[in-house]
Amino acid sequence: MENGNPVAKRKILVTSALPYANSSIHLGHLMEVIQTDIWVRLQKMRGHDCVYVCADDAHGTAIMLSAQAGGITPEEHIDRINREHQADFADFHIDFDNYHSTHSPENQKFSELIFQRLDANGHINRRRITQLFDPEKQMFLADRFIKGRCPKCKAEDQYGDNCESCGSTYSPSDLIDPQSTISGATPVEKESEHLFFALPAFTEFLKKWTRSGTLQSQVANKLDEWLESGLQEWDISRDAPYFGFEIPGHPGKFFYVWLDAPIGYMASFQNLCERSEYDFDDYWKPGSEAELYHFIGKDIVNFHTLFWPAMLKSAEFRTPTAVYVHGFLTVGGKKMSKSRGTFINARTYLDHLNPEYLRYYLAAKMSDGVDDLDLNFEDFVQRVNSDLVGKVVNIASRCAGFINKGFDGQLSAAVTEHALLQEFQDSNETIASLYENREYSKAIREIMALADRANQFINDKQPWVLAKQNPASTEVQDICSTGINLFRLLVIYLKPVLPAMATDAESFLQVPPMQWQDLDSVLTDCAIGKFKPLMTRVEMDKVKAVVEDTRAEVDKLQGPATEAPLALQNGPALGSEIEFPDFAKVDLRIVRIISAEQIDGADKLLKLQLDLGEDETGTAVQRTVFSGIKSAYKPQDLVGKYTVMVANLKPRQMKFGLSQGMILAAGPGGKDIWLLEPDSGAKPGMKVT
Ligand code: 2FM
Ligand code: ZN
Repeated sequence: MENGNPVAKRKILVTSALPYANSSIHLGHLMEVIQTDIWVRLQKMRGHDCVYVCADDAHGTAIMLSAQAGGITPEEHIDRINREHQADFADFHIDFDNYHSTHSPENQKFSELIFQRLDANGHINRRRITQLFDPEKQMFLADRFIKGRCPKCKAEDQYGDNCESCGSTYSPSDLIDPQSTISGATPVEKESEHLFFALPAFTEFLKKWTRSGTLQSQVANKLDEWLESGLQEWDISRDAPYFGFEIPGHPGKFFYVWLDAPIGYMASFQNLCERSEYDFDDYWKPGSEAELYHFIGKDIVNFHTLFWPAMLKSAEFRTPTAVYVHGFLTVGGKKMSKSRGTFINARTYLDHLNPEYLRYYLAAKMSDGVDDLDLNFEDFVQRVNSDLVGKVVNIASRCAGFINKGFDGQLSAAVTEHALLQEFQDSNETIASLYENREYSKAIREIMALADRANQFINDKQPWVLAKQNPASTEVQDICSTGINLFRLLVIYLKPVLPAMATDAESFLQVPPMQWQDLDSVLTDCAIGKFKPLMTRVEMDKVKAVVEDTRAEVDKLQGPATEAPLALQNGPALGSEIEFPDFAKVDLRIVRIISAEQIDGADKLLKLQLDLGEDETGTAVQRTVFSGIKSAYKPQDLVGKYTVMVANLKPRQMKFGLSQGMILAAGPGGKDIWLLEPDSGAKPGMKVT
């Protein structure tokens, strides 16, 4: 029941993209599974029947070659990786209902069945094609296994079909002096028959499907472009040697890894059905009432929103309810890089840091869009410490001692702050729907605003003052019981993001696992346990250790890195003190940015023209300042923004001209540098006091 109305129980099946079984889980994978896991936990807490399945994507040439290089069979290789992946995910509290492998009997069965249905429906075509072949290894070479000189700019060491140096695209057979990266042999051209899926036959179906509420608008727009420019047939076969499933009736031909990968979603669910009450057809037959959601990254949209729904349609299965696409994770404003120490594996992170720090930080920045998300470590430390330790856990630690000492752990018999508790409970639907819509950053903002309210309440009531006079005063018990209840409601709201902290809080509160509907109640007349810190501060040294270890792992594999490591500062260290008269000398003024220009030859600086309002005689005052904020703003986006400037700083002659002061901004740097918004009520020239 919610607000007195029974909520219909939804049947939901959710997946995250299947990680390849040839490398370790890294922060990029974690961002996706954390996004999915939060969503799934929310559904489960709200009483829905939500199932979350995943698997390793275990087929393909790369995996076959990795196993060969390690002197083991592909099966041994994928088993080893599967165990490692599952342990990493479990330690990040990713609560899969099943984690399987695409190299499984269930997946073979469904891959064959789907292929047979596509074929029977006339959606499989056969054609001979010519590809490059490694005569030594006796295998066809995918583009990424061929290197040579660019036919256009002659740059050495260019891969398959495009040149990183001049950007031109070509066919691998156009490369000058091509070489197989596997054996070093010169590839030869060779013909073989391939099987193709007739994707163009699904153009009209896909036009409707992509516009039926299944996709975010940015994704649907991208698909429109593809659909308008015409779909191509999709090559679904690969020649032996290949690690995968042999195609029935086509000896020596295997399903391309991307054919059986999404079928792995079905296979993992089928595997769960075999040992549970779930019924496969309930979820996968056409017209099923169950909801089906795939969470994926923006690099694999075509596979999930073109090939996959078309295959399902032809093979007479249901299509997904929605595909939720996210952007990439960047670290310190840049693509994750091995040599900078930012291509961080799950295990390396876990060696030093609490997984819930990352869950919280990512949730606090996640939206429903496809934009990239940046992990900035200074911001990470600051955010976790100030929100979780400083705000949420602080509420319990401020109240528990008084309840334990003065009242034997007993909470008040009745609630005294109805309005405040009600205000917390009234956020229920707003926060639930922000989670439901994957607007996690907004949900966290709401929750932290409530945490601020709770702390404000305790500050105002000052139970420590009352307790000094009389530690057994019922007023102290009432205030602290309210505080504990506010804390409890916050923990319920945060439980999808912080399941382990919530479990610890449940044992402190001595309550069974909390569900969403527990928001409707408050704890009275019951005992709480002894308070133990539920979350400790993140230390920058630990973050540095993660980056250092990551670099060391890379050095071991590839030799010392040449790129500089990610530079990390020790958070908001406070500078030396100054006397008030020194501070009073600083003339701080609100200014409006009139114009901003790029400067030739300057990496970081922009040239700003600033409006300081008018002086006493009514004359407009303007200043020119060079400011190092180029990493965060395009010049045109700065025009009209407000900021604070040090107006009486002695002008400095710089390489690019005279700088008449300095502007102030907040943030760790990179893309995160904040100025004031124009609607703040500030006016140019106002003195900052
Ligand atoms: O891009 C990848 O990492 C793939 N292994 C994802 C597969 S998702 C699904 F289709 F299986
Ligand atoms: Zn080139």
